[in-house]
Amino acid sequence: MSNKEIFTTKPFIPPFDEYADLVRRAFDNEEFTNHASLLTELETKLEYYLKLDGLQCVTSATTGLQMAVKALEIEPGSEIITTPFSYVATTTAILAEKCEPVYVDIEPDNFNLDADKIERAITPKTKAIMPVHIFGYACNIEKIADIARKYNLKVIYDAAHAFAAEYKGKSILEYGDISVVSLQESKLFHTVEGGIVYSADKSLMERINLLKQCGHIDDNFITDGFNARLSELHAAMGLANIKYIDKIIEKRKKLCEIYDNRLAGMVKLPKKQPDLTYKYPYYVIVLKSVEEKDKVLSTLCEKGIYPWHCYYPTLNTLQYLKNHQQCPVAEDICARILQMPLYYQLETDDAERVCDETIKAIRD
Ligand SMILES: Cc1ncc(COP(=O)(O)O)c(C=O)c1O
Repeated sequence: MSNKEIFTTKPFIPPFDEYADLVRRAFDNEEFTNHASLLTELETKLEYYLKLDGLQCVTSATTGLQMAVKALEIEPGSEIITTPFSYVATTTAILAEKCEPVYVDIEPDNFNLDADKIERAITPKTKAIMPVHIFGYACNIEKIADIARKYNLKVIYDAAHAFAAEYKGKSILEYGDISVVSLQESKLFHTVEGGIVYSADKSLMERINLLKQCGHIDDNFITDGFNARLSELHAAMGLANIKYIDKIIEKRKKLCEIYDNRLAGMVKLPKKQPDLTYKYPYYVIVLKSVEEKDKVLSTLCEKGIYPWHCYYPTLNTLQYLKNHQQCPVAEDICARILQMPLYYQLETDDAERVCDETIKAIRD
């Protein structure tokens, strides 16, 4: 049996020469940043692929989320309702804008913000909701939109995991006031580091455009802002990778089907969402107990297979927060969940081996 090490994730690596040819263009053009030709071409290709008009690439999803808070004029001191179960960047973007994260627990089926619990967390200081489409699963978009309308709140979707996901036949990025995707190297599609900001509201996208270049257009200094310009070298990686995106998704689908076939019934899996066209960014399993999770994790690690106990600890417990809310569902799921290996280079035999060892660890 193979003893090759298997990690949770690896970046997609395009053929080096294809990347080098694109980088050579930047050298020939003598342009490395300031929204030059490679970035323009990448944005055009992404718009075509995602069927969206007017998206903008930025340096990271974290900065994109922060700019979204600022673009929507959410004042410092405001409360923003968010999820305790995410990468820490969702919270740090709120804190960086001097707002207060208020955590509402998650639902156990897809691990997203429980929309039924949002209203009771709203106070006069609440100005926005920042949910996450965690692992690419759709939030309760309709209910969140209803609540936002009723209480006049903005909705910023952290869609870091949701590149290319479609909900009810259109890009998931079309929902909410602003959505932000991560293009960091561990993601389904990447530019090494990077992000996408999208809003259907053109005036908001103009605001993002201003904010991402330090708040000025030429000599017209309009506001304070950020440097969130994606470089030509990052855009080159995006252009090298976009050619392969359908192949990447197809391969990940195949691996997920192996996991589904072998693990269903042994572990809890996220609930299928009929309105979502899932693009296989992640594969997570929830074990029956913390003891079972610990056993699976340690047994797999001994065999050179390294799943990840993702998003531990939950964000509501971060020691540097002013206030702590209780989120028992998130804390329970977080203690029992594992993110399983899933990346383009993973062979189907590797996925079978991960299943063999997982099943053995559960049964023994
Ligand atoms: C849910 C979530 N939000 C935000 C981010 C931040 O993305 P970036 O690394 O592009 O800033 C990540 C990164 O992995 C993430 O997983």
